[in-house]
Amino acid sequence: MASGDEQPISDILRIYSGSSHGELAQEIADYLGCNLCKRSTQRFSNDNLFVYLENSVRAKEVVIIQSFCPDVSDNIIELLMMIDAARSASAKTVHAVIPYFSYGRSDKKDQPRISISGRLMADLIDTAGAGHVMTMTLHSPQVHGFFSVPTDHLTAHPVFIRHFKKRKLRNTVVVSPDIGHAKRATKLARALGVGVAAGDKERTADDTVHVADIIGDVKGKNVIVFDDEIATGGSVLALVKLLRKKGVKKITLACTHGVFSGPAIKRLKAMSDIQEIVTTNTVPIPKEKRLDNMTVLSVASVFGEAIRRNIMGKSVGSLFAFWPE
Ligand code: R5P
Repeated sequence: MASGDEQPISDILRIYSGSSHGELAQEIADYLGCNLCKRSTQRFSNDNLFVYLENSVRAKEVVIIQSFCPDVSDNIIELLMMIDAARSASAKTVHAVIPYFSYGRSDKKDQPRISISGRLMADLIDTAGAGHVMTMTLHSPQVHGFFSVPTDHLTAHPVFIRHFKKRKLRNTVVVSPDIGHAKRATKLARALGVGVAAGDKERTADDTVHVADIIGDVKGKNVIVFDDEIATGGSVLALVKLLRKKGVKKITLACTHGVFSGPAIKRLKAMSDIQEIVTTNTVPIPKEKRLDNMTVLSVASVFGEAIRRNIMGKSVGSLFAFWPE
């Protein structure tokens, strides 16, 4: 992909994958025409981790790809150790690529004596020595501000738009489960040329929510429920129940991060009237979680292109303007 650039990107870059999501890291490396570098991680008998980067990184642009998925704490520590190892081995810049930043959900102090852990994680990444962060669809856009190093907050919109344009949508409304994400839903709806609506959602526990009402016209429409992530499936479960009561036709679920934790898969299987569940590969989705009506879109090209442009000193701000829609 580096044709026309003066120096082959593979001479400049060293790409490493943490333990969390080797498959996506390989796809990103393939997009860039590079090999993944070797890394080994071991666990000592006292449970401490040991990480070793097997190639020289001196004066190289080092990309470390690690998603915050289970085992989240081990994966975070491994990422920090890889960043520290690369920095102290004289890498030119260490780029932390975090397709799913799970701690973004801890973005406020809404009870006493709690940690705003999203901020803490961002500080740790900075302290470890990352000079640049790339991530996707943070829980709220403001979480971007937790990072004190330059950060590219990417979106999976181009891959969703490409996918839904093939579906030739008619009489369709994009529905956000809550007002907080209505802006993102509006962006998708506009790109698809359809309407938008939003739920009035309140979380009652980690895996249960209450959706009091829906703002916007959904009666007799096909709906695409669009959220940043499906974790326990509590949000989509409550919203879909209400949408059915409101007399919608076909229901599609779409989310950037298919976390599918706890009871999510059982809940999704039980919703037999869902046409399609569309998600991306920001986190690995094992076989047992891949339902027959699930489509997993790859975001490797979005990350690959953002990395290429960063390394080549090209604008990333204009990234999406060039994307075929
Ligand atoms: C919450 O604000 C997020 O946007 C998602 O709606 C939430 O993380 C989904 O979690 P769950 O599937 O457990 O309801």
